[in-house]
Amino acid sequence: MCGIFGSILKNGEAAPLIHAGLKRLEYRGYDSVGEATIHEGKLFLKKDAGKIDDVHAILNLDDIPGRLGIGHTRWATHGAPYKINAHPHTDCNEEIAVVHNGIIENYADLKLELENIGHIFKSKTDTEVIAHLVEEKLKEGFSLIDAVRETVNRLDGSYALAVISIKEPDKIVCARMESPLVVGITNNAIYCASDIPAFLPLTNKAVIIENGELVVLSDEGYEIRKLADWTVVPRQPEKIDWDPEMAEKQGYPHFMLKEIYEQPLTLRNTLRLQEQYLELMTEFLDRAGEVFLVAAGTSYHACLAASYMFSKLAFLATHPIISSEFVEQHGKSVNIDSTILFVSQSGETADTLSAVEHAHLRAATLLGLTNVIGSTLTRVSRVYVCQQSGPEIGVAATKTFTSQLSVLAQLALRLAKKRGKMSHVDIEVLESRLKQIPDVAETILATQSEKIKQLAKKYYERQCFFFLGRGISWATASEGRLKLMEIAYVPAIAFPAGESKHGPISLIESGFPVIFVCPKDDTHKTIMSNIMEMKARGASILVLCEEGDEEIKGLADDFIEIPKGVPEILSPILYVIPLQALAYYITLERGHDPDMPRNLAKSVTVK
Ligand code: F6R
Repeated sequence: MCGIFGSILKNGEAAPLIHAGLKRLEYRGYDSVGEATIHEGKLFLKKDAGKIDDVHAILNLDDIPGRLGIGHTRWATHGAPYKINAHPHTDCNEEIAVVHNGIIENYADLKLELENIGHIFKSKTDTEVIAHLVEEKLKEGFSLIDAVRETVNRLDGSYALAVISIKEPDKIVCARMESPLVVGITNNAIYCASDIPAFLPLTNKAVIIENGELVVLSDEGYEIRKLADWTVVPRQPEKIDWDPEMAEKQGYPHFMLKEIYEQPLTLRNTLRLQEQYLELMTEFLDRAGEVFLVAAGTSYHACLAASYMFSKLAFLATHPIISSEFVEQHGKSVNIDSTILFVSQSGETADTLSAVEHAHLRAATLLGLTNVIGSTLTRVSRVYVCQQSGPEIGVAATKTFTSQLSVLAQLALRLAKKRGKMSHVDIEVLESRLKQIPDVAETILATQSEKIKQLAKKYYERQCFFFLGRGISWATASEGRLKLMEIAYVPAIAFPAGESKHGPISLIESGFPVIFVCPKDDTHKTIMSNIMEMKARGASILVLCEEGDEEIKGLADDFIEIPKGVPEILSPILYVIPLQALAYYITLERGHDPDMPRNLAKSVTVK
């Protein structure tokens, strides 16, 4: 997730406005920043790696001439956060500048094609191909608008982009596919941005650009066209009545809820990872003597789920270990034959990094899965994969968890393929189900949210909860429990459902709430027995089950339904979403702030 901003002023300088707009978009990314303007037929550019204030202190982002320009605040996806990878990106002659939020999946093929006809690339980003493609089309005689249209027709992936060129110095041409893009209007200026807060102090008149649309900004206003058939879209501006704080949360009352609802989008992004890194990591896992999966908190639950994925799909036994226990528990046995996949959203968790340091000293192979390119974890890993969830502001991890699961499932699937452990048909089915996950997540949010709100009202006063699941659903249950405990301050216990009879069941008395995670998998029959054991002792049973699973629903007091056909291995990605929402709404009912749970920090940098 990055932030783009552009402006054309009738009078005045664009740079200070772009700088201020980017500052308001900093929550979308903050590892690099840049601006490009056009003035007297020349392109001016300033950019560097670093937070906006730090870069501004050195470069003065307000001091670039011109009434028209674009800017970008970056959250690295392709290419580390170095100056050369900061946006805007330019063509060979530095006459065209592009800012982009999204991921161009076919950039490697396009780059090769462009290099073969003489284009020189400066960065390691996917975005730079856009500048060179536009350059090529302008050379062929197309107008800037047509050149951008021709260019985006060649792109696979997601984008919100803005392009300027000294050949047509009075326009900004923008296009959108999946990544958000909005236009803001005043009498003296027109703006484009990733998000409304970027221009909200300047105007509350906004036009939302839809997927598959191109929009041209000029002194005359804006013109929207459909990319598919080039028809003009007559869309009037809307009046936005958000205050700036609401705007930053895109109208949601909390970042946590916004991030829960962002999951269909972030899950789409995690299906667009760079193949070569996934392949390389698969290679290391395949060669490994023994594999540890090491992480803390929510990321540990992703590792727990992954241990089932690797074992069930690729027949690879792995050890999921909590970071703070790793050195004590396994420190002495780690050696040159050990391969350790560290999973950390922030890439900076102290417990995880001390496990990294230990493993490094013992010459193990270090692999990393993180959301932050440039974090310590990315610097020490032999290979790392960036999960591409964008910055997560809510302290409770939500969208980053489901993205981690998606990446780990992709790795397990690749390994299974490589090892010949699954039939082609099974692989194809799983691959196609994985592609459908974002849509299913959308359906769950659309159909179950109201019900979850009501369940929160019913259950919020309970003193303690059990979360139970069997197999991979134990990981889902554990994560559901952590969400509820950490933000609603409700004591909760999670364990594999089969364990309940070995002790915990003695806690059950009339009305004790027990949440069962019950996808329709191999554990279905046995979990029914576990539900009956609890029910017989008076527990209130809330189940998460497959739509139409009457057997399970018949045993429950309440149920939340997940669409049919979710394979067991992918089930945590979807079954955890209602549990995140339930924790969120119970927190509200109990009168707490889900974004700021007491005693917690987003990144835990102490041991
Ligand atoms: C819970 C949560 C924490 C983190 C943990 C590890 O909602 O966010 O449990 O998962 O502190 O953080 P990372 O993944 O950054 O290493």
